[in-house]
Amino acid sequence: MIKKKIKLNNNILSNRIIVSPMCQYSSIRGSPSNWHYKHLSNLILSGASMLVLESTAVSKIGRITYNDLGLFNKTQEKNFSKLIKFLKSIKDIPICLQISHSGRKGSCNIPWVNSGNPLKKNKWKTISSSNLKRDINWPAPKKASLNDIKKIISEFENTASRAIRAGFDGIEIHMAHGYLIHQFISPICNVRNDEYGGSVKKRCRLSLEITERIKKKLPKNKILGIRLTGSDHLNKGISLNDSVYLAKKLKNIGVNYICISSGGIIRKTNLNINKQAFRVAMTKKIKENLKNVLVGTTGRLENLKNLEKNILSKKLDLAFIGRPFLKNSNWLYDSLDKNYIPKQYEKAFEKKDK
Ligand SMILES: Cc1cc2nc3c(=O)[nH]c(=O)nc-3n(C[C@H](O)[C@H](O)[C@H](O)COP(=O)(O)O)c2cc1C
Repeated sequence: MIKKKIKLNNNILSNRIIVSPMCQYSSIRGSPSNWHYKHLSNLILSGASMLVLESTAVSKIGRITYNDLGLFNKTQEKNFSKLIKFLKSIKDIPICLQISHSGRKGSCNIPWVNSGNPLKKNKWKTISSSNLKRDINWPAPKKASLNDIKKIISEFENTASRAIRAGFDGIEIHMAHGYLIHQFISPICNVRNDEYGGSVKKRCRLSLEITERIKKKLPKNKILGIRLTGSDHLNKGISLNDSVYLAKKLKNIGVNYICISSGGIIRKTNLNINKQAFRVAMTKKIKENLKNVLVGTTGRLENLKNLEKNILSKKLDLAFIGRPFLKNSNWLYDSLDKNYIPKQYEKAFEKKDK
């Protein structure tokens, strides 16, 4: 099943493994750097059927750190276009861009500087659904006004348009890991009492408005995906009913895939990220409630025997895999068949005589 082709909108994916988006905090004023060329040319040859490029900010204050990729000006658009041409010249698989706004999780150090804590110098005022802090040592964000919300929706739409002009095959909207859209969906963070807070319908309004606007702008052949929060792993957080509600609405708008992730709304939750395939049970429950949309998940899926069983038993359609590709971008070559190995590398994988 892992190697069974699958149709994703107008594209045929050659297998069920997708490179999960992974921030590199290595941009030059938002544009891809030489590091991205090196890193992504390894990943495009990995044997995965699709690549989702790391979380890319829709605005300056939507960055997590100063080193994030961003796509909100002409120079960045030109530089992304160069990158896509380069990657496509190596191997032509679908490449999507994950677009995001950090909200109250922004204005912080890169992970390997001061443990990713909030910036003390050159910081910026963050924005969120409410003015609740992420943690005691984090600053209070501004509560977004209705005008701010309008602006944020336009920023997502503009970044999606720029990404399509730059040559991406699709867009993945980031609604997870405690970033701005998640900050609206989760009752842990959203304590508004206007039309963007309160009931699940109101908490999900921003995510649906952004998705609708992007869907309208997107050419029919382009992919629209979502990284969705299945659970906050907290008593009063997003429930399974909430995520099923949102997933169904997203499907009705016409998204092509939904990747179930979870956690991250505050620093400590009850999520255990060490167990194999730790989000598969939750994904199965959400998938049971959805028809005509591909459902995937992410998190310790690298045991391919297990993954095979899980796809076969319809618990998921797509596997978004991250860290194994950072450790060794060629790890699929030995596990899958010869077709995944670039011709130039075949000699290294020939069976040796005894
Ligand atoms: C270095 C690194 C950066 C990441 N950046 C992102 C990101 O930009 N967007 C996102 O949705 N998830 C991000 N993640 C989460 C991964 O996409 C993936 O979901 C997670 O690592 C679990 O999958 P794995 O067990 O296969 O690594 C990141 C993970 C790592 C290790």
